[in-house]
Amino acid sequence: MVVGGKVHATRHPKTAQRPASGPVGARSAIAGVRSDRPVASVGSRAGVPDDRRAIDDATPVDLSVELAPGLRLANPILVASGTFGYGIEYGDVVDVERLGAICCKGTTLKPRIGNITPRVTETPAGMLNSIGLQNPGVDAVIERYASTWAGWRVPVIVNVAGESIDDYVEVARRLDGVPGVAGIELNISCPNVGKGGLQFAIDAEAAGAVTAAVRRASDLPLLVKLSPNVADVRPIARAIQKAGADAITAINTLSGIAIRPDRTRPLLGNVYGGLSGPAIKPVALRIVYEVTQVVDIPVVAIGGVSELSDALDFLAVGAVAVQVGTALFADPTLPIRMVDGLAAECRRRGFDSYRPLIGTALPRKPSAPSAKGVEYRP
Ligand SMILES: Cc1cc2nc3c(=O)[nH]c(=O)nc-3n(C[C@H](O)[C@H](O)[C@H](O)COP(=O)(O)O)c2cc1C
Repeated sequence: MVVGGKVHATRHPKTAQRPASGPVGARSAIAGVRSDRPVASVGSRAGVPDDRRAIDDATPVDLSVELAPGLRLANPILVASGTFGYGIEYGDVVDVERLGAICCKGTTLKPRIGNITPRVTETPAGMLNSIGLQNPGVDAVIERYASTWAGWRVPVIVNVAGESIDDYVEVARRLDGVPGVAGIELNISCPNVGKGGLQFAIDAEAAGAVTAAVRRASDLPLLVKLSPNVADVRPIARAIQKAGADAITAINTLSGIAIRPDRTRPLLGNVYGGLSGPAIKPVALRIVYEVTQVVDIPVVAIGGVSELSDALDFLAVGAVAVQVGTALFADPTLPIRMVDGLAAECRRRGFDSYRPLIGTALPRKPSAPSAKGVEYRP
């Protein structure tokens, strides 16, 4: 909601009508836009010259987007969890208030010291990290940062991780109602210790169960983050929607390893790391393309966004917003320039909002199963 020119997240009661799993097209992420895609009704396909007249610089462009009841962002450019700390660290370099939202570092019930080093290494067009969710624990996060966040107009979404459903639920409970916490993003790419260490994110039932449990425990806007490390993400996305998530974020990192120069062992202390950066963008695009066709809740895209054209590609496959991650390490001011660039792109194409850019590259109907195209797995 907008109060006195500020965009605030507001809580909604558990009893409030929550259209968790309506039919496709029943909800819209952005005012006036139905999500039965494609939504482009004016202008041209992305990259194709537009015959509309450009609008002048003075005309405001509506970049706002509602990701959940009570979570309206001023623009669709967010920063990704684990790549922007708690937002506070960047205060001198970036005008954080101009971001659409901040997804803060992964937060767990108890403090975690993280994995043994080395924890990061560069890869062609990307990086591998195995930070291991180092964080001070939810109580310290609330104590140290929430009052600062409460004074910001940019919503802060707390990224939550856990080793059991009870962990996630307890963290969500403690965040519920804390001023400054605008929402929760569940990182479900975590081992479920009670289930032999299988990640919640790789199984539709487990992903649905953790989402439903957190949904019951908290009134906060709830985003759930997909892992790309699965054969077919669509049943998992559907289960998450059915369990009551407000939005889906996609994608987390791809599992990978690197080898030490002397080739005596894997390079990272944890052996496995998460691959991020431009290298993963085609995978993220494919997953967003698939997911936006099977769910009816907003999808926020992440994976290799390094310039405005990447964001435009993700919008074209149906995302309503994007998160910038690894690219921030090279240029923390990038997201702000992308906000300005997105408004300029809309004006250039004669649009007074970015809505016509969403879903332009989607097929008119959800793809039927086939041996080719969207179903094809090399
Ligand atoms: C150093 C680092 C730490 C990360 N920590 C988290 C985290 O705590 N929780 C989470 O959900 N994702 C985490 N991620 C994943 C990012 O949020 C994002 O999903 C991924 O990096 C893909 O986006 P990118 O290619 O733009 O970086 C981390 C990524 C990096 C590079």
